[in-house]
Amino acid sequence: MNKQDYVYVVDLVKQAGKLAFQMDLDIKIKECIGDFVTQVDISVMNFLRDKLNEKYPEIDFYCEEDPDSHYTDYCWILDPIDGTTNLVHGYRQCGISLALLKDNESIFGIVYNPFTDECFTAIKGKGAYLNGTKRLHVSDRPLNLALIEFGAESNIKTHADMNFNIAKDLFRECVDIRRLCTTAMNLCYIADGRIEGYFEGYVHPWDFGAGILMVSEAGGITTDFEGNNLDFSKPSTTIISGNGIVNQQIQDAVWQHYNKGN
Ligand code: IPD
Repeated sequence: MNKQDYVYVVDLVKQAGKLAFQMDLDIKIKECIGDFVTQVDISVMNFLRDKLNEKYPEIDFYCEEDPDSHYTDYCWILDPIDGTTNLVHGYRQCGISLALLKDNESIFGIVYNPFTDECFTAIKGKGAYLNGTKRLHVSDRPLNLALIEFGAESNIKTHADMNFNIAKDLFRECVDIRRLCTTAMNLCYIADGRIEGYFEGYVHPWDFGAGILMVSEAGGITTDFEGNNLDFSKPSTTIISGNGIVNQQIQDAVWQHYNKGN
């Protein structure tokens, strides 16, 4: 992505962020409690889809809230609000997550939290930055000095024992556990060295499209539970992300409980 396009898209996402303040939330439940969509999600999607389609008609558009959209080899991937449950509760940890995918790889990513005005960006091969100035680096803390995040598949609850048992094992080994409950922000926090690692058993490509690039450009590593690269063409996946020092220990903890049916 060239400088002109970078500036244009970052500005567009920041404009979209204003919609998070202006809208009546008009909360709707999608499939179950905890699976929300709000008018903010829809307005942010409509705004970005229109603007991006107009300026870049050759690039497809794949979005969480657009059931007719799908993965292609050259597409924008958007989660209009990652952390919708937080938004619904006025817990201001959420962000617009937009990435540009080419041949199943993220080549540009932006995660913008309009409430804190923190804007994380990354271009493949050119580093990750906070608010355009602070170069991001993962921390060098080992597990015994680490903060670890996890997602608990809150909508589903069937894997509660597995998720919390993994977290309990890690809790005994690390400084503490955090639950921010937004995959996109979790990945940015790893990139910025605020936390050291994160795992979740069920995420979608729009949740991690931008954040995965943030982590890799900051020197970290993201895989699925088996240690494979994440595949954007799949509708969902497991995820482990970290500073590269804690990843193996997270994977070991996951494997103590994963697939045991608890
Ligand atoms: C969700 C958040 C949450 C994660 C879920 C995601 P949404 O995205 O990232 O942290 O646990 O797996 O689906 O629904 O708020 O866009």
